[in-house]
Amino acid sequence: MTSLAKKLAIFASGRGSNAAALYEAMQAGEINGEVVVVVTDQQDAKVLDRAKEWGVPAHVVMRKAYASKDEFEQAMLDVIAPYEPDAIVLAGYMRLLGPTFIALYENKILNIHPALLPSFPGLHAQGQAVKAGVKVSGCTVHFVDTGMDTGPIIMQAVVPVYAEDTEDTLAARILPEEHKTYKKALALFCDDKLVIKDHIVHIKD
Ligand code: GRF
Repeated sequence: MTSLAKKLAIFASGRGSNAAALYEAMQAGEINGEVVVVVTDQQDAKVLDRAKEWGVPAHVVMRKAYASKDEFEQAMLDVIAPYEPDAIVLAGYMRLLGPTFIALYENKILNIHPALLPSFPGLHAQGQAVKAGVKVSGCTVHFVDTGMDTGPIIMQAVVPVYAEDTEDTLAARILPEEHKTYKKALALFCDDKLVIKDHIVHIKD
């Protein structure tokens, strides 16, 4: 039995290539979801142009417009509330969400990170991997908890790292894997196939 399409809010801070890959997969019927709103914290984020092309409502919520992080996050919650999202998809959203926000969407916030977590969390993950001299890296789709990239891991993909790599060349090799992995992981989530037990994600048949 197919369940109802999940209503998804996408949060992104930049160019939105992951957001676009996910949107296109939804249009192609590969993910049982619908993007109901796009939210960004950057007024010139390219994802805003994409949302316009898609005819999806988009909102800019700027951190500097609010005195505290709590007020900023409350403003984001107020912006998405009318769309009644079932889940939040972070696609290059470059801020840590606070505990109050996360508690309201417990196990319903997904993120993509450009490294094999728990290695290289935080910013410049690809640069961290190049500096460490690892021979493989990749990407991780995970549920978001209150830590920095520490939530239960849903899916990972691996790419080689070469001695000549720079942060940019490695990022370019990882990005297409991000798009593929995020699509597969979000499709499983939207089909209610993911179960978390003791921080481990199980995939139902
Ligand atoms: C991706 O590498 C993502 O993993 C990271 O930020 C980048 C966003 O790229 N968190 P895009 O905006 O999806 O193109």
